[in-house]
Amino acid sequence: MSGFIVSEARLALKDSHSQEKYPSMLLHVIRTLVPVGLLFGSFSISSAWAHDDHTHEASPVPEEHVHAPSAMPDRILLTWMADPAHTQAITWRTDQTVTRAYAEVAPAEAGPLFVAHATRFEATSTSHVSDLGPALYHEVNLTGLTPETLYVYRVGDGANWSAWIHFRTASEEHKPFTFVYFGDAQNDVKSHWSRVFREAFSDAPRASFMLHAGDLVNRGNRDAEWGEWCSAGGWVNAMIPTIAIPGNHEYDITRTGQLPESPEDQKQMPRSLATRWQARFAYPDNGPTEFSQHLRETAYFLDYQGMRLIGLNSMEDFDVQARWLREVLSDNPNRWTIVTHHHPVFSVSKGRDNPELRDAWQPVYDEFKVDLVLQGHDHSYGRTGFRKHSPNVTGGTTFRDSDSGTLYVVSVSGPKQYDAGEGHFVRRAEDTQLYQIITVDGDQLEYQAKTATGGLYDAFTLVKRSGQPNELIERAPNSPEIRRVRNAGN
Ligand SMILES: [Fe+2]
Repeated sequence: MSGFIVSEARLALKDSHSQEKYPSMLLHVIRTLVPVGLLFGSFSISSAWAHDDHTHEASPVPEEHVHAPSAMPDRILLTWMADPAHTQAITWRTDQTVTRAYAEVAPAEAGPLFVAHATRFEATSTSHVSDLGPALYHEVNLTGLTPETLYVYRVGDGANWSAWIHFRTASEEHKPFTFVYFGDAQNDVKSHWSRVFREAFSDAPRASFMLHAGDLVNRGNRDAEWGEWCSAGGWVNAMIPTIAIPGNHEYDITRTGQLPESPEDQKQMPRSLATRWQARFAYPDNGPTEFSQHLRETAYFLDYQGMRLIGLNSMEDFDVQARWLREVLSDNPNRWTIVTHHHPVFSVSKGRDNPELRDAWQPVYDEFKVDLVLQGHDHSYGRTGFRKHSPNVTGGTTFRDSDSGTLYVVSVSGPKQYDAGEGHFVRRAEDTQLYQIITVDGDQLEYQAKTATGGLYDAFTLVKRSGQPNELIERAPNSPEIRRVRNAGN
């Protein structure tokens, strides 16, 4: 068996340029597997795969085949364009042979007779040409729904239909709920990120939504990467709504999918929001009115059972968004306020400070006592406690005085990992893929960061107190931080 096992390790090395990104991990795999293989005795790869007079060479299925659209709906995604208690947005993809597209919806029943009560909604369809070819994206916003109700829906063209799929509307009341938060997925989404998503869903199968803090993929105009992202979420994306804001990797070098001719070309090319963003991600059109039209659905807010969730676009116009944020927070009837954006206010990893973003947005978070800021980008994990005045910490980052009680989290769910620095964080991690489960229940918010294998890595509780900053109860486990081994003297 040794030949087979060694060849598996070699295949892993060729997988998506892994040899550059994960050399130590794969060397470890090889060192582990080779002796295991030897235990089972020798087995020649040539005897396994060679035929009488030729050797079979495997070759990848072309991306345009793997990710080809058809008339059958795929990439079905739930989002919200308006109130989660009364509306539900659905988007999906087909090929361009489809001339009309529909969603049918009914209150769910235990048996199949609900189909007699289904209401049909006609979709708005948008043509999109990616680097792999043309497709149609369809969008329906279901309205007039009853709160706290299990619905069943399907999408299709009248002949080719999806399965009937459930979703549940939110309550109009401030009721307990749970959601999942992911930092960057970004790289090797099929091979290395999908297991994190599956673990998160297994851990929180009744989550109200899945929140992605940018860099869902590595190249925002590469259809194969979106194909992997949609496949990783699978039918869960059709059943549990997705909240997402763009990161720098959703800003790609062209709006047409054309690739540069050289690395130098690539550096020179301007980047802009991935061409599919608005066709794929249907979000409330309540962002900054000063934003140009193509930035719609990259900054927005929605209210969910007593929590205002605000998404910001950390690639564009910080001051415009700060003004809008102040308006959104000045009129906020919710008990809890969570903000998400891609680039962090306080960076975990070295050399990745974002002072302009911090100067524009942190004063607003402080003024309005935002509870929690969920971020990504740094490819490591860091979670602050409450910060006291510390005007000039090592590394040059200026921390403002903050009595607001705002907590900041940077996380990563994908396999690309950077060094975490030594900044002011209560809990940090490196070389660790994580997901977070956050439960809001009355005056308490429970936060848990879990590793890709489901182990509890970090936790805290926030408690609302009238007229005072939140109480923070630390619940992180006593286990040591997962950090890279550094050579003495480095
Ligand atoms: Fe990023």
